[in-house]
Amino acid sequence: MKKFLALSLALAMSLSLAACGGDGGSSSGSGSGSTSGSGSAADGAQKIGISMPTQSLERWNRDGSYLDEQFKAAGYETMLTFANNETDQQVNDIQNMIADGVDLLVISAIDGEALNTVMNEAGEAGIPIIAYDRLIMNDNVSYYVSFDNYTVGTLQGQYIVDTLDLENQAGPFNIELTAGDPADNNAPYFFQGAMDQLQPYIDEGKLVVVSGQTDFDTVATAAWDTQTAMERAQNILASYYADGTEVDAWLCSNDSTSLGVTQAIQSDYAGANKSEIIITGQDGDVANLKNIQDGIQSMTVYKAVANEAVVTLDLAKAILNGDTIDETLITNSAWDFDCSYDTESYPTSEGHNCPSFLLVPDVVTADNMQEKLVDTGYYTVGDDGYLVAAG
Ligand code: GAL
Repeated sequence: MKKFLALSLALAMSLSLAACGGDGGSSSGSGSGSTSGSGSAADGAQKIGISMPTQSLERWNRDGSYLDEQFKAAGYETMLTFANNETDQQVNDIQNMIADGVDLLVISAIDGEALNTVMNEAGEAGIPIIAYDRLIMNDNVSYYVSFDNYTVGTLQGQYIVDTLDLENQAGPFNIELTAGDPADNNAPYFFQGAMDQLQPYIDEGKLVVVSGQTDFDTVATAAWDTQTAMERAQNILASYYADGTEVDAWLCSNDSTSLGVTQAIQSDYAGANKSEIIITGQDGDVANLKNIQDGIQSMTVYKAVANEAVVTLDLAKAILNGDTIDETLITNSAWDFDCSYDTESYPTSEGHNCPSFLLVPDVVTADNMQEKLVDTGYYTVGDDGYLVAAG
């Protein structure tokens, strides 16, 4: 079932990507790649507004396509927009959806703190809101669907601990840290999950952050931008490693930042252990899967966004049906993947927790890539032997 779903959704992705044409290549001239219209919706079908942050980060193209395909196949009319990582554009996209009379909003926020006005407008219009993947800090949000973001970081940190064998080795080992976008509510969860694994070894001196840069705001990467991550890594290498000091691990919170760090290491690092540096990531971006196969990146945390779209669709159906929503959405489902119902971890304001459905992330390395990504139908192996998104 999952393989068929992944393949059919991936085919939709490649078709709709052609339609969207990437950030700015708008099919509607709105400055955001957007598709609207009913697809297979019957006249008078309920309408879903799907607001994605950007197409410049690979995963969101998949999210947008999977969500659009799922809702259309279920008979809904959809409005899908990508906001080019510009919050003003995203506000405009959502206001257009409200004006167009959508029955429900699915939003992945560029900045979880910057949508209050339009979230309040949606609340006043009685439009339910699903915060998709990234929490929005507004109490009008009805539900949150994501992966367990803290666990994403835990998997990254634990991978470094295990691979360096910190429990048994004397060290010290040198490490550097690259976190995500401070405007993204997920980024601190990723970072904290990893640091809760690494901090005990930093405290005992077995792990040494040579640059001394350990607080989130210092190591964060605006917009998850690859170039920004690369330039900061180049500065660190020039300032602290030019004398031959070796770096043994580099924590990166996702693949787009990991790509920048690996580029810096490939171009600016003179250490003899270049091919052994442990570098983490998240998302299974195609360029990073190649780096993992080539031994340049060590691992990525994979999140099956096709499944995130399935949960979002079933949740939306339940909301629009007026069903009571709790863990029975999971227990009564036919989902063939794990998901948990959480009412304590994600507050949208002080003391106001957002009921959340959290899927389970997975560690992918060169050793299990075939099983986790190809055998599941999410990716295929190209003629060059490297993985490409299926479809
Ligand atoms: C996060 C998302 C991650 C990461 C990043 C860049 O919010 O959960 O998958 O890749 O954005 O898109």
